[in-house]
Amino acid sequence: MKIIRSKSDLREVTRGWRTAGETVGVVPTMGALHEGHLSLVSAACERADRVIVTLFVNPKQFNNPEDLSKYPRTEESDARKLAPFGVDVLYVPDGAEIYPDGFATTISVSGVSDGLCGATRPGHFEGVATVVAKLLLQTDADLAFFGEKDFQQVQVVRRMVEDLDLRCEIVSCPTVREASGLALSSRNKRLDDAGRQKASAIHASLTEAARTILAGHDVSDVLKNTRDTLLDQGLGPIDYLELRRESDLAPAEDTRIPARLFVAIWLGDVRLIDNLSVAHA
Ligand code: PAJ
Repeated sequence: MKIIRSKSDLREVTRGWRTAGETVGVVPTMGALHEGHLSLVSAACERADRVIVTLFVNPKQFNNPEDLSKYPRTEESDARKLAPFGVDVLYVPDGAEIYPDGFATTISVSGVSDGLCGATRPGHFEGVATVVAKLLLQTDADLAFFGEKDFQQVQVVRRMVEDLDLRCEIVSCPTVREASGLALSSRNKRLDDAGRQKASAIHASLTEAARTILAGHDVSDVLKNTRDTLLDQGLGPIDYLELRRESDLAPAEDTRIPARLFVAIWLGDVRLIDNLSVAHA
């Protein structure tokens, strides 16, 4: 696996692949790789002839400077974790490769970015859309892999790719969880054992909420009970707990069309997000 730090070096490599008629898959990440990221890498290696993993901690998507400074930076161990997969390139752009002096463009995707994390993290999805557009263009990928753990992010990226006529196909992959149900996240590293135990109530509560909604209970009653359960278990405050349509993330009152539960909740100073399809629970 080659480590590449400049877009010109990257272009030289991808041009060779294109000439040979090979397909290129990209897995954008911010590093601190865990099994969730690696499931995307594995899917990419299955679907594409060549695979690029990108590692860039994107300052534009952090609305909280402390969250950015605390974000783990573990390039060496990330590279080691990728070794068994047959990844061709780990692209670790220097800051100026993404945001050179004078950089002045922001991509803003309305609608799908508006509620949920868009409401509680102002500017976050603009930062995500802008960097993902750059990474897709710099890697010239045919396929890009994203996790459903960040379901709203997937929908923002899909909308952007469609609206800007980017030629890349977006592939979404299921959330990887610990045995307790806790969704893997680089932020889990900041939880102690007791915290991880508490945090497993998030998935359990969403599963129970999905079950009762499917059994025909009133959605707002179910959401209220789920909130109470989470708070009673020592989690909170809750940024949001909502049922949304999967297709466009508009609020959903029932599950006549595919819907998903979304939660963002604090545990101490760690903010955790999760979501669950109501139909498949
Ligand atoms: P990061 O948080 O590093 O996540 C990289 C990819 O891994 C995302 O597509 C995310 O949804 C996926 N992922 C994280 N945890 C997962 C889990 N438990 N199961 C399955 N997939 C999981 O998301 C970002 O980085 C950034 O916003 C990025 C897209 C790289 C743009 O900067």
